[in-house]
Amino acid sequence: MDPFHNPFIAEHTGRARTIPLEEFSPANPKYMEMDVWQPYFSRLREEAPLHYCEDKIIGPYWSLTRYKDIMATEVNTRVFSSSSTFGGITLMDQREELPMFIAMDQPKHDEQRKVVQPIVSPQNLESMEKLIRQRTQKVLDALPHNETFNWVEKVSIDLTNMMLATLFDFPFEDRALLTYWSDSATANTLGGGHIDSEATRERILAECLAYFTRLWNERVNAEPGSDLVSMLAHGPATRNMSPREYLGNLVLLIVGGNDTTRNSMTGGVCFLNQNPDEYAKLRANPALVESMVSEIIRYQTPLAYMRRTALEDFEMHGQTIRKGDKLAMWYASGNRDGEAIDNPDQFIIDRARPRQHLSFGFGIHRCVGNRLAELQLRILWEEILQRFSKIEVVGPPKRVFSAFIRGYTELPVRVSR
Ligand code: HEM
Repeated sequence: MDPFHNPFIAEHTGRARTIPLEEFSPANPKYMEMDVWQPYFSRLREEAPLHYCEDKIIGPYWSLTRYKDIMATEVNTRVFSSSSTFGGITLMDQREELPMFIAMDQPKHDEQRKVVQPIVSPQNLESMEKLIRQRTQKVLDALPHNETFNWVEKVSIDLTNMMLATLFDFPFEDRALLTYWSDSATANTLGGGHIDSEATRERILAECLAYFTRLWNERVNAEPGSDLVSMLAHGPATRNMSPREYLGNLVLLIVGGNDTTRNSMTGGVCFLNQNPDEYAKLRANPALVESMVSEIIRYQTPLAYMRRTALEDFEMHGQTIRKGDKLAMWYASGNRDGEAIDNPDQFIIDRARPRQHLSFGFGIHRCVGNRLAELQLRILWEEILQRFSKIEVVGPPKRVFSAFIRGYTELPVRVSR
């Protein structure tokens, strides 16, 4: 049986060709969960690169699906705001505002970003490399052989969770809480999981804030340290934050460093299984790991889109985006745009310009942690190649019910030497 056989794709490919465009809502979380999103976005890129939709749940919104349009919008911060005051970076408007610097405009955005930037300085990355490698080796060495297990849980979650604990200098024995808070912050309330309402989410995030407030209080009166809590507690632009803003920035840093890298760790295993020739190429030439990591991140596009809100009327593709309208820049689609990327639907580990993708965004909000994520993935694959001749996917992957997070909850695999 082919674990990647998708029983839904034929039907959706047909539907994507015929559905009236005004009836189509690209942000339906089922499209990503069922992995049937591509034909819809391909049609939008061709026929409606700026698409308007009146969604019953999230309200009216625009979608941008071409690479170049997304880049142009990212840099037009005068017209397109990220601010949580207008709804922030996801299409669903939040009931209660949660300020964080990814959802701020200038100048406050830059001031707060500068406070945490040193966590990913080249020197800091270099000093973390040894620790990341040791942990990766330990996790891989503990994997069962000739036995099916869930790669998401045993490898991707474990590694990204330990990384987060290091970045925050978080008590190691409690580190599972970080994954729990990250999942709670991003879960779709309609997904059937533990976050069944916004009230439940707020209650769990309040627990997160209480825990981190203890860490803040310990560190604010100590010498400035090199962890994220200490940086925030001492940073000129963050030391006087309200508790709500502290929570917002914590959520940003926890989610930013967690889901995205985790899902790239799982995505890589999927893509190499779907493309055995690329897997053979990698085994024959392990030096390709570096360019493969970028290709994994492009192909996975762990965050499907970012939202902006128009601060004034704006003309594009003969239509007017009105002041106050929300707009999704679909990175997942831009990364499959043949006008910008050759053979965009193919997973090719030795592309000429592998870092030319939209997965980290662009402009002033471009991902702070991009080099760290690449480092973690590079080490993971270097260590995998040292140990296993094959990681075989033996059952269908289960994907996250979300239009925002493109990820996996389960990937059954077997490893062999
Ligand atoms: C911002 C993706 C890993 C922290 C972003 C943005 C994207 C993104 C799309 C928004 C860009 C924009 O609006 O233009 C990713 C992906 C990752 C990853 C795909 C892994 C493969 C990380 C890691 C960290 C991190 C490991 C933590 C250390 C952040 C922060 C921001 C951000 C703090 C906000 C930047 C700002 O607003 O200035 N990321 N990220 N990310 N990311 Fe990442």
